[in-house]
Amino acid sequence: MPSLAIVGLQWGDEGKGKIIDFLSEKASLIARYQGGPNAGHTVRVKNKRMVFHQVPSGILHPHTIGVIGQGCVIDPAILKKEIESVEEMVGSISERLFVSPECHLIMPYHKIIDELRENVSSQSIGTTKRGVGPAYEDKYARVGLRVADLLSEETFRDKLKRVLAQKNLLLMEIYKAEPLKEREISEEYLRYQQLFKPLVRDVSLMIEQTLREGKRVIFEGAQGTLLDITYGTYPYVTSSAPTVGGICTGLGVGPKRIDKVLGVAKAYTTRVGYGPFPTEGSETISSILRERGGEFGATTGRARRCGWFDAPAVRYSIRINGVDLLAITKLDVLDDFEEIKLAIGYKETDEFIPYLASKLSPNYITLKGWKRSTKGIKRLEDLPKEARRYLEKIEEEVHTPINLISLGEERDSTILLEDFF
Ligand code: IMP
Repeated sequence: MPSLAIVGLQWGDEGKGKIIDFLSEKASLIARYQGGPNAGHTVRVKNKRMVFHQVPSGILHPHTIGVIGQGCVIDPAILKKEIESVEEMVGSISERLFVSPECHLIMPYHKIIDELRENVSSQSIGTTKRGVGPAYEDKYARVGLRVADLLSEETFRDKLKRVLAQKNLLLMEIYKAEPLKEREISEEYLRYQQLFKPLVRDVSLMIEQTLREGKRVIFEGAQGTLLDITYGTYPYVTSSAPTVGGICTGLGVGPKRIDKVLGVAKAYTTRVGYGPFPTEGSETISSILRERGGEFGATTGRARRCGWFDAPAVRYSIRINGVDLLAITKLDVLDDFEEIKLAIGYKETDEFIPYLASKLSPNYITLKGWKRSTKGIKRLEDLPKEARRYLEKIEEEVHTPINLISLGEERDSTILLEDFF
């Protein structure tokens, strides 16, 4: 029963979408376990680009099934649009996409509160303003509405009535905003009954059955370890658990069902939104990396902050997730650098400590760049020797083997060192 968890080891945007799509060729089922439309997993196939927000990134292969687990929050309008875009690209995905009835719904007030709160500078995290944080807050406050509630008009109206009374008080009294109308929300959301009815399944059971049949399953993480609600750079984090533990709670899968963990890290580091970033580059380095790497948010279009690879931070994420193998993405973005820096520790400590992250000043080593295009290279041996040295140095610093190297968005711009899945 081979299963593979794919998790981000930095602040998201590691290029997981491409890796998941690439490895999904062999998978039967791909399962998203947390997050919502804050994610933006980009996949490029035959000159067409698809940005996945909620639908699992492996669904472009005709034989795969995608499931959205109960650890996720869903914005129905975005999901509907996304399904339409996927279907434009690959034809119907009915009977190939399923959703847990226990997924929480992102409601209009979640998006409004996310936005209003971001406008208060002392509360600002730099969120995607998709309502994801407020939806998870309601889940834990036990006042959330779930996909299952939407399936019964009476239940939905009843729960909405009670919750909206509270939300309108908050909107009016605290944020001095307009109250929302129950009827308008009900009308809009009840239209999505038709969307969800054929999608709802027990995804935990589906995964178990798929694994029992000996078929391959991929657990798709969104965001990254350093954005994890517990293990990230709190409070500048997302509201879910992108780390491997999120798979068990977000899909109803036991820990022994996770056979291997592939950690994905970019050959440098980026971060979008506020919060500590020890290796953040000077404006010059940051803008060169941003321009060469096309580092603009796939969900919000925001310019990403960029800097050099932070080995202790990645080593930390490897520990938290029990990573077996590494995928290094966007190595080609470093093709033109004379010199490349790599953080191997900090002046204050050797290990990454999330709550001290804003106080850490990295110790760098400088490696020679390769100043040569890596485009089209298919074998590790054919990479310039300086590029191989850079990868070896990363492996040494993070104590984990690199098994996959990505040199561009297309499926075939990938070097797979060993068939591990
Ligand atoms: P939220 O998840 O929208 O609440 O945003 C919280 C933090 O996580 C912000 O810094 C966002 O920029 C960041 N974030 C959320 N989703 C992603 C993602 O998919 N990639 C990178 N950063 C993300």
